[in-house]
Amino acid sequence: MKTRAAVLWGLNESWKVQEIDVDPPKSGEVLVKWKAAGMCHSDEHLVTGDMVPPAEVLAMMGLESLFPIIGGHEGAGVIEAVGPDVTSVKVGDHVSASFVPSCGKCRYCATGRGNLCNSGAGTLGGGMITDGTHRHFVDGQPVGLLAKLGTFAERTCVSEMSVIKVDEDLPLECVALVSCGVATGWGSATKRADVRPGETVVDVGIGGIGINAVQGAKMAGASRIIAIDPVEFKREKAMEFGATHTFASMADALPEVTTMTNGEMADKVIMTPGVMYGELMELGMALAGKGSTVVVTAVAPMTQTEASINLFQLAMWNKEIKGTIFGSLTPRVDIPRLLDMYRGGTLKLDELITTRYSLDEINEGYAAMRDGTNIRGVIVYD
Ligand SMILES: NC(=O)c1ccc[n+]([C@@H]2O[C@H](COP(=O)([O-])OP(=O)(O)OC[C@H]3O[C@@H](n4cnc5c(N)ncnc54)[C@H](O)[C@@H]3O)[C@@H](O)[C@H]2O)c1
Ligand SMILES: [Zn+2]
Ligand SMILES: [Zn+2]
Repeated sequence: MKTRAAVLWGLNESWKVQEIDVDPPKSGEVLVKWKAAGMCHSDEHLVTGDMVPPAEVLAMMGLESLFPIIGGHEGAGVIEAVGPDVTSVKVGDHVSASFVPSCGKCRYCATGRGNLCNSGAGTLGGGMITDGTHRHFVDGQPVGLLAKLGTFAERTCVSEMSVIKVDEDLPLECVALVSCGVATGWGSATKRADVRPGETVVDVGIGGIGINAVQGAKMAGASRIIAIDPVEFKREKAMEFGATHTFASMADALPEVTTMTNGEMADKVIMTPGVMYGELMELGMALAGKGSTVVVTAVAPMTQTEASINLFQLAMWNKEIKGTIFGSLTPRVDIPRLLDMYRGGTLKLDELITTRYSLDEINEGYAAMRDGTNIRGVIVYD
């Protein structure tokens, strides 16, 4: 079948919206008609090359190049066709994307750590999770799917492990946001940082991820939520989502956090800037007090191997540093749980959407992300 998709052909290029061919789903696969796709910063890491493996790593993956690739890993849609042996969804079901697939059987899934599912291993390149072959073609050439999803397309064929059935009363643009940004930010605060009532939390970088770390910290009962972002609009949004203080930079925040905590500093620091660089850790760690946890959620360039960390203080102040993927939540459990909170009025989702775009306007949407004018831009399909 013919459909349309935003394809990236190489580093630092624009997304090209063009016609592609999609084959029907095979065993364990489904065809999804995407209805909404969020414009997360992670897709931008493909454009800039932060998330493009070096040639020798690609060679080990058996690939010459990641390109061409269809972007998009935050999304929600409707099942249009199912292949043989599919058991978790049927035609017409509403689904959330799950950028980490959930096989339900590997040792990580079996121990409640669905964000670490072994089926996520080949997420950046190659063919289908199911059998490694391709279902998507552009001008007769195979085209990859970011996170095996490719939600920047009207339709893609994906493994049933990559979709999660959701209730039909929920707006699909809200479901799309939960599928990456909301879950990742909220989980970074509530699960990975394990924010406790009364704590002081610092969140660095208020985009689609950071705003939800603020929202999570508030729900977990933090007393002080200090949101840091150079963009004034982001700081205003942070206050609407529960921040108690805002600063334009970590350097500006440092003396103020010292004063407001009588020198004890933050219990939890969550790093959610657009790109994670090693030098950001120096002030991130300085903002963190005794017995604190620093959670690194933002994606660094793949080749970044150095960070400025005071190792004396790490030990003597009994601090810890933790990474997280998907806020350390389990997609099959936590996507429906977060959507229940939205329905119940405790989780804000509608307020996260700044601007809606058509697929043809994708480059405009990413320009707005770079300019800091969107909390989240969302592509809405017919
Ligand atoms: N770990 C995961 O599973 C996961 C999932 C999704 C996204 N991410 C990553 O999280 C990061 C944030 O994504 P997003 O979609 O919210 O990005 P975004 O571009 O929407 O927001 C990033 C914000 O950080 C701010 N910022 C940049 N540098 C800063 C600095 N030095 N100090 C303070 N603020 C700064 C920007 O002004 C912007 O408001 C990205 O790196 C993304 O790839 C990680
Ligand atoms: Zn994302
Ligand atoms: Zn698994």
